[in-house]
Amino acid sequence: MSTYYTGKRAQHYNTRWHTYTARTLEETKAIIDVAALRFVPERLGRCPRVLDVACGTGILLRQLLALVPGVEAYGVDASADMLVQARMALKGQLHVHLERAQIGRGETANLPYAQETFDLITCTNALHDMPEPAGMLAGLKRLLVPGGQLVVEDFAPREPRFFWAAFEWLLRRIERNNVRTYTLFEARALCQQAGLHVASENVFTVDWLWHGWVVRAYRTSSEAAPTHA
Ligand SMILES: C[S@@+](CC[C@H](N)C(=O)[O-])C[C@H]1O[C@@H](n2cnc3c(N)ncnc32)[C@H](O)[C@@H]1O
Repeated sequence: MSTYYTGKRAQHYNTRWHTYTARTLEETKAIIDVAALRFVPERLGRCPRVLDVACGTGILLRQLLALVPGVEAYGVDASADMLVQARMALKGQLHVHLERAQIGRGETANLPYAQETFDLITCTNALHDMPEPAGMLAGLKRLLVPGGQLVVEDFAPREPRFFWAAFEWLLRRIERNNVRTYTLFEARALCQQAGLHVASENVFTVDWLWHGWVVRAYRTSSEAAPTHA
C-alpha cells in the first residue's frame, strides 16, 4: 500500500487540496441523483445507505449527510491517518461508520459489506490509485442495491501525452504507488468491463493543470436506472 496519505500529508490534506477538493466534489454532487436517494425511505421504508470508498478525510460524506437527511453513511479508506481526519470531520453525526480497508478486486471489492447494501457508492479522486480498477468496480457493483448508483470521479490525463507520461512518472515516485490516470472514454470502458452502464457523465476543469471527469453508473441489464417522481 502507498504510504503517501499518512502523517503530515494526511493532517494537511484538506488545506493543501482545498480548491481542488471543493471543485471535484461539487462536480460529484452535481451528478448524483439526489432525488432518488431522498425517495428511498418512501420507496423502501428505510434510510438511504451511502458508501464512500477511499473516503479520505470524510469531506464528501459530511456534505452528503447535509444533502440527504437521515442518510446512513459508510466510509472506507486504507489510511488510518486520513480516517483520523474523517472521524474529526464527522464527529457528532449520527449513523456514520468508518472502516479501515484496502479496496481491491474481490467479490465485494474486499469490503466487509453484504451484497446489495448501498443505494449510492462514491469514489472520488482515487481510481488512479487502484491496481485493478475494473475488478474493483465489479466488486462495488455487487454492493449496490438494484437501481443503486455508482458515482466515480477522478482527474484526467492531459495533452500532450509525453508531458502527461512524465507527470504520471513523477506522481508514481511521489506517491510510491502505481498511479494510472484515465480519460472519460477509458473510465466508461472500465465501467462496461465491470458490468456497469454509464447513464450520465461530465468533464470539467479545475485549473490550468487539473482536469477531471465524473460518471454515474448503474448495474447493467435488469438493474437499469430507476424511475421516480
Ligand atoms: C486523493 S485522496 C482522495 C480522498 C477523497 N476521496 C477525496 O476526494 O477527497 C485518495 C485516497 O484514496 C485512499 N486509497 C488509495 N488506494 C486505496 C485502496 N486501495 N483502498 C482504500 N483506500 C485507498 C488513500 O488512502 C487516500 O485517502
